[in-house]
Amino acid sequence: MTMADLDAMAGLLGDKDVMRHYPRPKTRDEALAWVRWTLDNYARDGFGLWVLEDENGDFLGDCGLTWQTLDGREELEIGYHVVPDRQGEGIATEGARACRDFARARGVERLIAITAPDNRASQRVAEKVGMVWERSSVKAGLPVFVHAMSL
Ligand SMILES: CC(C)(COP(=O)(O)OP(=O)(O)OC[C@H]1O[C@@H](n2cnc3c(N)ncnc32)[C@H](O)[C@@H]1OP(=O)(O)O)[C@@H](O)C(=O)NCCC(=O)NCCS
Repeated sequence: MTMADLDAMAGLLGDKDVMRHYPRPKTRDEALAWVRWTLDNYARDGFGLWVLEDENGDFLGDCGLTWQTLDGREELEIGYHVVPDRQGEGIATEGARACRDFARARGVERLIAITAPDNRASQRVAEKVGMVWERSSVKAGLPVFVHAMSL
């Protein structure tokens, strides 16, 4: 992801359908903060959210690894968002598997996915990369499910 992806990211994160499990879609300024956060993560960690593209270079969404604080613990999460007209093609699953393999190759021992309790599609992606439901928790004041796996 680079600043050149801001328009695409603002479209993705500003979409009502993509953000249906979030409190509300993100504004363009919030999408800008998201890209900056990603660039900071690249600089600090050497990874972050990456842009998903098809073989034509068309923008499909984002997917990647980010550190999240949950229940007082730092956890590495796989996250993903796919543009509405390309959902259901296996894109998030392919991206998440690549993230899992990237983490495993770097010696990461545990990965999680944090989802809204009714976000079955997201939970299914977590399960398809090998995670299992671990617990319910609360993040930013909202109930979440935590799926996890050891690598
Ligand atoms: C979650 C999301 C990234 C999945 O992307 P995707 O590329 O469509 O996912 P895949 O095509 O790889 O499908 C993954 C699985 O979810 C299932 N799935 C998709 N939509 C579903 C739904 N509404 N309810 C139940 N399962 C669903 C698929 O059937 C598939 O499982 P299967 O192979 O057992 O049939 C996509 O729905 C999305 O962008 N949602 C909005 C953003 C979001 O919620 N991100 C996650 C935040 S935690």
